Amino acid sequence: MKNRITPTTVEHSLDRDSFIVSKTDTRGRITYANRTFMHIAGYSERELLGQQHNILRHPDMPRAVFQLLWNTIKQGRECFAFVKNLCKDGSFYWVFANINPDYDDQHEICGYLSVRRMPRREALDAIEPIYREILTAEQAAGTRDAVAAGTRILQSRLQEGNIEYEPFILGLQG
Ligand SMILES: Cc1cc2nc3c(=O)[nH]c(=O)nc-3n(C[C@H](O)[C@H](O)[C@H](O)COP(=O)(O)O)c2cc1C
Repeated sequence: MKNRITPTTVEHSLDRDSFIVSKTDTRGRITYANRTFMHIAGYSERELLGQQHNILRHPDMPRAVFQLLWNTIKQGRECFAFVKNLCKDGSFYWVFANINPDYDDQHEICGYLSVRRMPRREALDAIEPIYREILTAEQAAGTRDAVAAGTRILQSRLQEGNIEYEPFILGLQG
């Protein structure tokens, strides 16, 4: 579902010891959301269950980040990411997310689980300009080439720092 919410500049912060938890099926449809999730995003359980997780997608988030996320978890690996999310009323909140594949008895991926906590402010100060740069490149490239253009920027920033994605992200959160 594509939402038509107008983003505002109102920011919410997750409490230091709160966790936002959700589960999805293999295609990213929400199958579970905890109370903290519903509270901060402003949706009821009924509004969330069965919806694609992109119900929270914020237009400031680069596509390349989600592409990397899905590529990683589909391969059965966990992924860490800083994500800006859109609430039902247009406000937003940042999270530091850890997304893991969930396995069935046959050792096949049967869904995904995401646990998010409060990001460090210093981490956001570092990641926001990079996301802005990626987003600008994606917008300039046009829809078809957006992910490739965004990924090139992300990879070149990582190469400049001589670091791979995961240690870079984990280092920012500290
Ligand atoms: C377990 C799980 C949790 C996710 N959590 C979020 C989230 O909190 N916010 C978000 O924008 N996308 C989240 N996604 C990614 C979405 O499925 C989607 O790829 C993303 O919102 C981009 O949407 P789009 O492909 O329609 O542009 C999550 C995916 C999975 C598998």
